[in-house]
Amino acid sequence: MEARVTAHARYTIADIDKRLYGSFLEHLGRAVYTGIYEPGHPEALPNGMRKDVIDLVRELDTPICRYPGGNFVSAYNWEDGIGPKESRPTRLDLAWRTSESNQVGIHEFAEWAEAAGVDMMLAVNLGSRGLDAARNFVEYVNHPGGSQWSDLRRKNGRADPWDVKLWCLGNEMDGPWQVGHKSAAEYGHLANETAKAIRAFDDKLELVVCGSSHSDMATYPQWEATVLDATYDQVDYISLHMYFENYEKKTAEFLALPEKLDRYIGTISGVIDFVKGSKRSKRDVKISFDEWNVWYHERKNDAKRMREWDWPHAPVLLEDIYNFEDVLQVGCIINTFIRRSDVVRVACIAQLVNVIAPIMTEPGGAAWRQTIFHPFHLASRHGRGTALRLDVDCASYASNVADAVSYLDIAGVHDGDAGTLTFFAVNRNGVEPANIKLGIERFGPVKGVEHILIKHDDLEARNTKENPDNVSPRKTTDAVVEGDGISLTVPPYSYSMIRVHL
Ligand code: AHR
Repeated sequence: MEARVTAHARYTIADIDKRLYGSFLEHLGRAVYTGIYEPGHPEALPNGMRKDVIDLVRELDTPICRYPGGNFVSAYNWEDGIGPKESRPTRLDLAWRTSESNQVGIHEFAEWAEAAGVDMMLAVNLGSRGLDAARNFVEYVNHPGGSQWSDLRRKNGRADPWDVKLWCLGNEMDGPWQVGHKSAAEYGHLANETAKAIRAFDDKLELVVCGSSHSDMATYPQWEATVLDATYDQVDYISLHMYFENYEKKTAEFLALPEKLDRYIGTISGVIDFVKGSKRSKRDVKISFDEWNVWYHERKNDAKRMREWDWPHAPVLLEDIYNFEDVLQVGCIINTFIRRSDVVRVACIAQLVNVIAPIMTEPGGAAWRQTIFHPFHLASRHGRGTALRLDVDCASYASNVADAVSYLDIAGVHDGDAGTLTFFAVNRNGVEPANIKLGIERFGPVKGVEHILIKHDDLEARNTKENPDNVSPRKTTDAVVEGDGISLTVPPYSYSMIRVHL
């Protein structure tokens, strides 16, 4: 299969916001307890946080982490997680039918985030609670001192405010499963009033209002239109979520789903423009795609187990073990975000540790990289700079979600400071290799090229504690400089990073 791709210095999309490579940690299953936090573990720091996990998060280089949920946040009392640990209450978490010990709260998470080199993106509870709890939490987190909540923070051991910039106004409030689910009109009103109160405290904060939980929701995309109509002047981002499933084990259909993601982003971008136009506004609202990932491997089992169990603390839950096919999918999802980076400014892989996550841990034991760690890691490290509008000429296939899915999925990023052009390419053709001719126009002479390949002959191949590098990147010498461009052949069903030095 032949593929011609042209990158031109003048055809750009946007400067990528580094928060496109964000992540998410929820009080869910073993994400927090025995994930990031495990006092007594041989790698635990004096505060109980696992150093081996911090090292992997640092390696992943995710600049921001959304916390504490997720569905969990919609019945969460943030005050339960402050003060002496021995006096914190155990609560029943209604979202996941588990017990929450509150041994980790905002102080512990903030300390972890600092050690891991990530900024916090915090969510307030607009399900079981509302404006008052939200404004108190913001004051606790961001006010220097001299008020009830900021002084309590100081008394609890943290003198300086954490200065958190990005705040989510609840989570998935369109979902009937959400504690405190609301209609679009009810939520729009509450979100707007909460946003006004938060802005009255600090109008520089960035606020994220809830969009749809996925694009098959019955209320989509009217939800976004109603919510934005109510909140447009007060918010900066509308949040979207999407999880990718392959129950039928049809790889071509599975790998076509990013076309649906692209259409979802395009539709909501249109809704934003519609509301902006109807308000004669100059203001821009962008998209925070703050939950995305493959999620189906354990989903049906988990739903059954949850119905049967008796409020366990930090049980195994949503521990999907990813395979090589998921590497291809994660590559295509990130490529979609890069190509839409003019409107998608923030995106969070859901989640970060143990729970549908790139990093796995064993209680008392090892931490390792799941297969999907690798495409995320390569994009997060090297996909920063200016996204390029590539011209791609390649054969396509028809799928249930789109008539023409290009076999070659590719995104390109120019980093002027580093003097590099980086391409992330997925060959969605399972039979034929792709002979790629990459034209590079008006960037100056090409000095060299590196090619990193992720390929496994078995789409089901996984990384485990015993075999943690079964699916992992390797360098090849396949890419060569040819005139003003690059030529290389990538195998069927493969992920590549092609890094061109200018
Ligand atoms: O990430 C798992 C769950 O998926 C989150 O709690 C929720 O927001 C979404 O439905």
